[in-house]
Amino acid sequence: MSTTASGVTVKLNTGAEIPLLGFGTVSEHDTETFKLALKAAILDAGYKHIDTAWYYNTEELIGDVLEELSLSNKIKKDEIFITTKVWPCFWNDPETSLNLSLKNLKLEKVDLLLQHWPVCFAKIDDSNGNRIPVPKDSNNNILYDKDGDYLITYKKLLKLKDSGKAKAVGVSNYTVQMLERIIKETGVIPACNQVELHPHLPQLELYNYCSEKGIILEAYSPFGSSGAPNLKIPLIIELAKKYNVSSADIIVNYCIAKKIVVLPRSSNIERIKKGYALINMEKSDVDALDNYGSKNPKRYIKDSWGDNIGFDHWN
Ligand SMILES: NC(=O)c1ccc[n+]([C@@H]2O[C@H](COP(=O)([O-])OP(=O)(O)OC[C@H]3O[C@@H](n4cnc5c(N)ncnc54)[C@H](OP(=O)(O)O)[C@@H]3O)[C@@H](O)[C@H]2O)c1
Repeated sequence: MSTTASGVTVKLNTGAEIPLLGFGTVSEHDTETFKLALKAAILDAGYKHIDTAWYYNTEELIGDVLEELSLSNKIKKDEIFITTKVWPCFWNDPETSLNLSLKNLKLEKVDLLLQHWPVCFAKIDDSNGNRIPVPKDSNNNILYDKDGDYLITYKKLLKLKDSGKAKAVGVSNYTVQMLERIIKETGVIPACNQVELHPHLPQLELYNYCSEKGIILEAYSPFGSSGAPNLKIPLIIELAKKYNVSSADIIVNYCIAKKIVVLPRSSNIERIKKGYALINMEKSDVDALDNYGSKNPKRYIKDSWGDNIGFDHWN
């Protein structure tokens, strides 16, 4: 058994293995800091999974790093599991989005392609011909596509899987009701659903539904996003003392114990190099964290386009 979290995998419903620890690639830093962080994640911490998206604007940097490390024989590109996502402004032409991502990542295919949000924005290009990620009217209201339907996007993603450009297809920010609808309409169960999930938001109903259907849940913003507020939860600090690890290790292992993919982000080289210890968390401690979150639900990512999705604990 691996001693660090980066070596543990779970099987997708396609039969492929996905590493339970993935490197989050939203960036609040300059390009050089981002590249150094990614190199440390791959070379020092042994990350084998990168979670990215067209929307993050980091795909070209990831492509540069993968190219450099592969040309210098430090990695083989196909050893790293790559996830990218289709943003709602591409809801009706996800192939355009995937082609842009593949070009930037310098890859011919990705391991996992996700629909980023089950919402549909209007398709508007700027004067340079680049798609506007979040189109707005003069009153700053988001422009949605009245004819949009997230089911159409899902059907188009399935076709991209058939074309071989994505080895697996999944969704993100879906509720149980939305999962039920796309499964009923297409007969195809998505490989993954990536949602905000952590000990402040255990999403137990969604977890039980996905477990039953064989959908792998992926936890984004595991530390509570910028500033990592979840690391200060008293129960997490207590468990960190009990197992003699960090608070971050507790959150990562909470997810791993539940076979949930966990996607922490960091730009701090020292922290990245340390990686996350793999511990054998007792079931009673996992249950205690579930229980804490059920009683104290808190959502940190509250983008306005989530308003109509019907999330619990949105406000
Ligand atoms: N599908 C979606 O809609 C969606 C939405 C949001 C995020 N995501 C994915 O999930 C990933 C992670 O979520 P996130 O970016 O919101 O944030 P996160 O991973 O929950 O938290 C990141 C923050 O935690 C800090 N941090 C990390 N390790 C720490 C430690 N050991 N001690 C103290 N602080 C620590 C980081 O600061 P330092 O840089 O200083 O370490 C950063 O400020 C994203 O990068 C993205 O890949 C997906």
